[in-house]
Amino acid sequence: MDRFIIRGGKPLRGVIEIGGAKNAALPIMAATLLSSGVNRICRVPDMKDVRTMYGLLRHMGAQIIEGGSAEIDTGRINKYEAPYELVKTMRASVLVLGPLLARYGQARVSLPGGCAIGARPIDLHLAGLQKMGSKIELEAGYVIAKAKRLKGAVIHFDNPTVTGTENLIMAASIAKGNTVLENAAMEPEVKDLADCLVSMGAKIYGAGTSIIEIEGVDCLAPIDNYAIIPDRIQIATFMTIAGITGGKITIKGCSLEHLEAVSEKLREAGLQIEQTTEGIKVKGGREIIARDIKTMPYPGFPTDMQAQFMALMSVARGTSIIRENIFENRFMHVAELKRMGADINVDGNVATVRGVKNLKGAPVMATDLRASASLVMAALRAEGESVIHRIYHLDRGYERMDEKLIALGANIKRVSD
Ligand code: EPU
Repeated sequence: MDRFIIRGGKPLRGVIEIGGAKNAALPIMAATLLSSGVNRICRVPDMKDVRTMYGLLRHMGAQIIEGGSAEIDTGRINKYEAPYELVKTMRASVLVLGPLLARYGQARVSLPGGCAIGARPIDLHLAGLQKMGSKIELEAGYVIAKAKRLKGAVIHFDNPTVTGTENLIMAASIAKGNTVLENAAMEPEVKDLADCLVSMGAKIYGAGTSIIEIEGVDCLAPIDNYAIIPDRIQIATFMTIAGITGGKITIKGCSLEHLEAVSEKLREAGLQIEQTTEGIKVKGGREIIARDIKTMPYPGFPTDMQAQFMALMSVARGTSIIRENIFENRFMHVAELKRMGADINVDGNVATVRGVKNLKGAPVMATDLRASASLVMAALRAEGESVIHRIYHLDRGYERMDEKLIALGANIKRVSD
């Protein structure tokens, strides 16, 4: 298992580039199952979850050439299942359920089960598919779904669910008749999937808003060079790194679109953020100012940036109240940040962070993807050396983060056992 050894205290400076968004790449890769033939996708990020999705598609019979411009040939799909072994390492494997069912009339997908950040049920995905005429049974930990041809329906989500909305958009795109999704997730990754499906011939209206209408078509063409949007969470993480290290980072070729809530909070916290023709320029302020956040579905402050914002607040002037409204157990990083000297109290879904002057290097353990990013940030700021164990969590969703940090002047080493 890899670990990072980081010696903190250096302001990071320089220019980096960020690739495609993991959470857009995964549904778009699953969408290749809706067509038969060679799909070409551009700006595919090189990270562990993407490789897991390649593995899953190969398991079903896809022929794949991996890379930033990937080719996925779905002409010979012959298995309609997502096995437990793959789903347990990546919950987003559930994204193949809608496409398999719509295209092949059957799917056998392992139930994802709980994970470090919460119970994360998929009841809303299943209820939606049932409403579209699918039979669904749960058997030995698997969802077994069957349908002759899915039928359009009006589906109201009790909660706006990102992957649930994506599963149903994909299923509805080749169902018979019209589907309306109400209280749909409005995340940019949902819109990116819909834009990609439209490029394949789907008829989707309103993606990016809370009501999405889909007119089912008979078939879709393979994806023809669709470029995935840049990863807003990786961009925001590097912006926050400029803040916590008091550095100056340019994120090349990217825009602040999709980052309104995060950049507003970071500006209030004292960071200077500028959109230029070259990209986003971020400069850490003389001091970090405590600010409160509450996580919300898009366009609110993203839960996927809560841990990183907390690391920043741990060295701010004043007290910050952080309210996690999306996942019930997304404070696993708190205990580790405290090991580095942070002053944080948790009561239910509310964390009170009293800023300290500085953090101190310590051995810590990454527990989930975004929690790992917050520990890397804290270590980059801390006095002395930190060892961050279980970096495989970070590698799931950050593309070669250590190499990017080295390019910015960080003292960081990856050690493999
Ligand atoms: N929920 C239900 N029932 C469902 C589905 C969701 O109760 O059937 C609840 C969840 O338990 C949660 C809330 O609804 O409380 C929102 O969950 P959502 O379904 O939107 O999350 P997700 O689709 O499983 C995606 C991202 C997550 C991100 C969340 C929230 C992907 C592959 N994953 O998960 O990304 O945190 O949306 O924005 O898109 C990450 O990248 O680190 C990550 C965890």
